[in-house]
Amino acid sequence: MLPTAALARAFRRGLIRKKALSSLGYDDARGTSALRHALRTHLAAQRGLSFASHDLMVTRGSQMALFLAAQAIAEPGMAIAVENPGYPLAVTAFRASGVRVVPIDVDEGGMSIDGLEIALARDPSIRAVYVTPHHQYPTTVTMGAARRLRLIDLARTARLTILEDDYDHDYRFEGAPILPIAARAAGETVYIGSLSKLLAPGIRLGYVVAPPDLVARMAGIREAIDRQGDGPLEEAVALMIEDGELARHARRARRIYHARRDYLAARLRDTLPEALTFDIPLGGLALWARIVDSTDPERWRKAASELGLSLTPAANHSIDGLAPAAFRLGYAGLDEQEIDRAAEILKIAHLRT
Ligand SMILES: Cc1ncc(COP(=O)(O)O)c(C=O)c1O
Repeated sequence: MLPTAALARAFRRGLIRKKALSSLGYDDARGTSALRHALRTHLAAQRGLSFASHDLMVTRGSQMALFLAAQAIAEPGMAIAVENPGYPLAVTAFRASGVRVVPIDVDEGGMSIDGLEIALARDPSIRAVYVTPHHQYPTTVTMGAARRLRLIDLARTARLTILEDDYDHDYRFEGAPILPIAARAAGETVYIGSLSKLLAPGIRLGYVVAPPDLVARMAGIREAIDRQGDGPLEEAVALMIEDGELARHARRARRIYHARRDYLAARLRDTLPEALTFDIPLGGLALWARIVDSTDPERWRKAASELGLSLTPAANHSIDGLAPAAFRLGYAGLDEQEIDRAAEILKIAHLRT
């Protein structure tokens, strides 16, 4: 959800402030200094990260950060280990950088580190590993502390770069916040974040925190296609962070999405108890629903689509072509009435399969 009025006010102030500073000209490819400083403070408070502002680069969404990070670390013949199922656009970014991807299985604790060790023994060209440990995409599970430590140890011994995508860190509804891997292993980690979940995917802002030589390389690559980011927008978001507007918005969004998660879970339990099972995700914006009767996910998807409901089956997230029978059901954008309607369509579509 977008705090439209607050963003519009901040944009106006940001534009005026930039103009007053005579800085609507060419700027730093790593982002405006105001937003880099604001994000540094924000990430220190929210994610326990400690870094200098020249270790951070603002990007047009985390997609650009994924692409630039892969470009910056790519070597001939290199491979990146990725979660399977996983985030397909990360794979797109890696492949576009000429890097091979090696799928590693995911279980209820995220990427299997045993699986990663086996892959490393077989394929020494794996030089990096991409993970979404806060809530694995698409299964929503959190990687626990022991597994994170094993991953860090393995990265240190095998000299792997960890690409950590902390895309939905603003949304944790239960328990203490889980700090990112980058808070423990800054030297080994390229940390990537996004403002798409807090503002909107159409507001293209993301960021990457990495050792300064890597940030400099990424900035150099970015300049080849995009001289710099959108100065007034970056200034506006810096202002929203500085005056606490973004934090207030995050608290509100968290409350609303938390309630929507619970409402969807209750509705699914009422309407489809025999067909779907799921664990309640501890945060994030989606629920991973596994099909437990023998319904074919593709037939179910088609039937729902004819009734106006778009479903994302696990096959869309498969890196190796094999997929469990499951759907990733996003709830953040739906109010209670829309959730009721979606549950109803799911039920009717299920009957039609
Ligand atoms: C795993 C993952 N990473 C990153 C993003 C955000 O991408 P962007 O910041 O480019 O909008 C998403 C959005 O859905 C995502 O699911």
